[in-house]
Amino acid sequence: MAEVPAIEGGKPIREKPITVKPPVDLDEVIEVLSVIRDGALSMLRGSRVKMFEEEFARFIGVKHVIAVSSGTAALHVALKAMGVGPGDEVIVPPFTFVATATAVLHSNAVPVFADIDRETLNIDPASVEERVTERTKVIIPVHLCGLPAEMDEIMKIAKAHGLKVLEDAAQAIGAEYRGVKVGAIGDAGAFSFYQSKNITTGGEGGAITTNDDDLAEKARLIRHHGEPRWYHYILLGYNYRMTEMQAAFGLAQLRKVDKLNERRREIAKIYHEELSKVDCLILPHEPDHVRHAWHIYNVLLDLDKVRVSRDKFVEAVRRENVPISVAYPTVLYLEPLFREKIGHGRGCPWSCPFYGRNIEYKRGLCPNAEWVSERVFTLTTMPSLTDEEALDIARAVVKVAKYYMR
Ligand SMILES: Cc1ncc(COP(=O)(O)O)c(C=O)c1O
Repeated sequence: MAEVPAIEGGKPIREKPITVKPPVDLDEVIEVLSVIRDGALSMLRGSRVKMFEEEFARFIGVKHVIAVSSGTAALHVALKAMGVGPGDEVIVPPFTFVATATAVLHSNAVPVFADIDRETLNIDPASVEERVTERTKVIIPVHLCGLPAEMDEIMKIAKAHGLKVLEDAAQAIGAEYRGVKVGAIGDAGAFSFYQSKNITTGGEGGAITTNDDDLAEKARLIRHHGEPRWYHYILLGYNYRMTEMQAAFGLAQLRKVDKLNERRREIAKIYHEELSKVDCLILPHEPDHVRHAWHIYNVLLDLDKVRVSRDKFVEAVRRENVPISVAYPTVLYLEPLFREKIGHGRGCPWSCPFYGRNIEYKRGLCPNAEWVSERVFTLTTMPSLTDEEALDIARAVVKVAKYYMR
């Protein structure tokens, strides 16, 4: 007889919920305190942001890093530095965090959604190729959950059509594709240091990586008001600067990034071993030619083998007092922002006279992404989890899966 889940009146796996916190210790406190003591809080006054950029460039293996206030800002700055603007299309996956696509809208360009692969959950190069038009300027592959997208094929398509590639590496700090760190493969990479990411710059932060001198120079200008010298403006810029405290925090995190990534890998292994015990779950795997960053552990619930919806399954696991979430419950193009073309208002950027095409966002556009979004659930690999906590999370999933299996 299967054990009864808490949601059906049984006893939960844990008495109290597990709290998930980023791994922060005295190192970060000391770094941040030293900034406060020095009194240079903005990157315009201090040296920590520059140091963080140099260290992160060394870690990724690129010539330039431009630190910014968030991953969303990194995507926006990179697209603008690539010259994306009115009338352009950018190819993105629909199964990702919204910022991958809103950065395109922020740049007054039109996001075109290409389907994903059901196994890797990453953008499918064959679908990318199908979506290229004379308006396409950039492809944004997302290294989802920390698993690198198929970069060889994407770079080949980009080269054949004269397109730029912006890697959305927000979830893939330290991941490698054929021995090269992601963010060093395309024309540029965009990273996020939000508090859940593999390293954080104190809650929020981001960076652009590139080997292109020209792109780097433009990105620096766009980050800071398009101002090459005081009170002189040569292009439309923003205030997307990272603070000195963020950079100081990030420097402490960067010193232990390999250790933190190793811990995420160990937690993924614990999940893998436990969850392999039931056959209604489709587990992520790491192909030989990549190194996964295990930012999160996404599992697919095989709906043919259970007598419960994904949402009820997730609620049942949550009631066992363990953390679980869904990344992502919808495909982006079915959200009102896209489907109803809300954008900037008045139909912009789709109605822009420079665009002149009619694009529709409707169900069926990316069938694999829709299929995945109905089945996926997400387990945290936060390095601060103990082995016992990770085991309890996995046991809760297995307990609920066994109970609802057909
Ligand atoms: C794939 C992806 N792209 C972009 C972002 C945006 O990063 P941020 O939250 O730092 O703006 C995130 C982070 O949440 C992400 O997961």
